[in-house]
Amino acid sequence: MSDDLLPEHIEAGLPGTADLMVLVGNSWWRCAYAARGGNWPLAAFYARRVRSLQRRLGVIRPKHAERLATYEKDMLGPLFAAIKTQDRPAFEGAFSAATDDANKQHVETGYGYIRWKLPDEAPQDLDLGPAKS
Ligand code: HEM
Repeated sequence: MSDDLLPEHIEAGLPGTADLMVLVGNSWWRCAYAARGGNWPLAAFYARRVRSLQRRLGVIRPKHAERLATYEKDMLGPLFAAIKTQDRPAFEGAFSAATDDANKQHVETGYGYIRWKLPDEAPQDLDLGPAKS
């Protein structure tokens, strides 16, 4: 048995779709409550985090790449626009449409039993109020 690092060892260490989706869900939740609390830079941070996690997913799971690119353009695009203009009603509309579409993606990829919903509780570990700078 050799200690050499082979490509299959690296592959085994990569996160799977579900691993990245757990992080996507967590950031999505935080994004909503940061916007609701008025901490727009934090909402932007978590929206970028969702985008970056989904881009990573598209690289390690190319079969999802095209639908993720469409999702980024059509669903995250309006969300980023609403965050930029700090427009709460536009944010709520974009967030809700993007959540519905995510659940549609779950159906289309064979995981219709995964229906993401926004937790009633805000995250407790971050100051969600208006940012200082
Ligand atoms: C903000 C949007 C999204 C949220 C909040 C979200 C959330 C989640 C969550 C919480 C899971 C279950 C993870 C677990 O506990 O194991 C999941 C799984 C999954 N999601 Fe998403 N998702 C989103 C967008 C998408 C998109 C755009 C796709 C398109 C490819 C997608 C494809 C999947 C797939 C295929 C799984 C099953 C995981 C597996 O293959 O094992 N999701 N998602």
